[in-house]
Amino acid sequence: MKTYNDYLDKVNRAIAAIDYPAQPAGLYEPIAYTMALGGKRLRPVLTLMACEALGGNPDAAIDAALGIELFHNFTLLHDDVMDKADVRRGQPTVHRRWNENVAILSGDAMLTMATQHIERVDDRFLPAAMRLFNRTAMEIYEGQQWDMDFEHRHDVTQDEYIEMIRLKTSVLLGCACQMGAIIADAPVEDRQAIYDMGMNLGLAFQLQDDMLDVWGDPATFGKEVGGDIMNNKKTFLLINAQRLAQGDDALELRHWINDPYAMREQKFPAVRAIYERLGLRELSQQAISQYNAQALEALSRVNFATDDARQAFDTLVTRLTTRDK
Ligand code: IPE
Ligand code: IPE
Ligand code: MG
Ligand code: MG
Ligand code: MG
Repeated sequence: MKTYNDYLDKVNRAIAAIDYPAQPAGLYEPIAYTMALGGKRLRPVLTLMACEALGGNPDAAIDAALGIELFHNFTLLHDDVMDKADVRRGQPTVHRRWNENVAILSGDAMLTMATQHIERVDDRFLPAAMRLFNRTAMEIYEGQQWDMDFEHRHDVTQDEYIEMIRLKTSVLLGCACQMGAIIADAPVEDRQAIYDMGMNLGLAFQLQDDMLDVWGDPATFGKEVGGDIMNNKKTFLLINAQRLAQGDDALELRHWINDPYAMREQKFPAVRAIYERLGLRELSQQAISQYNAQALEALSRVNFATDDARQAFDTLVTRLTTRDK
């Protein structure tokens, strides 16, 4: 049975073989820098895995997989400007190492490179692949805008939060899976079921990311922690804290949310302590388990080519539940 690392090797070899033009260096160097920093490569691995698991040849899906990873990395360049994040994958973010204009333009170029990679999908599957890719991209921009809008709202509901993370994060995992299924020429029911699997996995994945932003170890996580709290991001944690906090906790939470000059050294540990007092770590973990169960349910609807294929996805879903990076 092929493992995550087998697919990861294939993805990493293909990324290393991308040939960036030398000039203008100001455009291409930040792209090469970003792509070389690694990351989990979860999305392209999902594409290759899904393709092979549904009876296709993963080599036929490699360009689409790279397109999706380029797209993901493009969103990170812009996301780090929007979130004022200084560190990613253990290194300075592009807008910190260069500047914001560089992050904008290199990001734009990565988006187009992503599309150019998707273009290489076999003509038989290209219309479906392109439609899926473009629809997903629009959804992600919508999710990112909700995420920004929510920073300034205090009445965001849990349903709104779930819809926001579905858009900004989950649809790309669904897309990565469905892309593999399209290139495997899988029947429409399997395309849908594997999309649902990726989508639910994505909801659990973003809930976990929000937890790691509070309790993660920056050395392992590769990002600074506390950013979501500093930006008043309406995460599952903050929304539930607003709903459940009483008395002094409620007053203190309101104080930190409304103080635009709060220092990270004070605000981050104080809000984290409120989350802990309210048992939100456990509540969030429960929500993660629930979405993972839904991912496994969707998985059970997929007609995999072999039992090994089903097992590979099962292992991946289970492993991601305890990720620390
Ligand atoms: C970061 O994605 C953005 C989120 C959706 C949370 P990843 O956690 O997959 O980042 P890398 O690619 O592994 O660095
Ligand atoms: C990321 O959400 C979603 C996208 C990049 C589209 P976050 O803002 O939580 O991701 P990180 O934590 O910066 O990786
Ligand atoms: Mg963000
Ligand atoms: Mg961010
Ligand atoms: Mg995050």
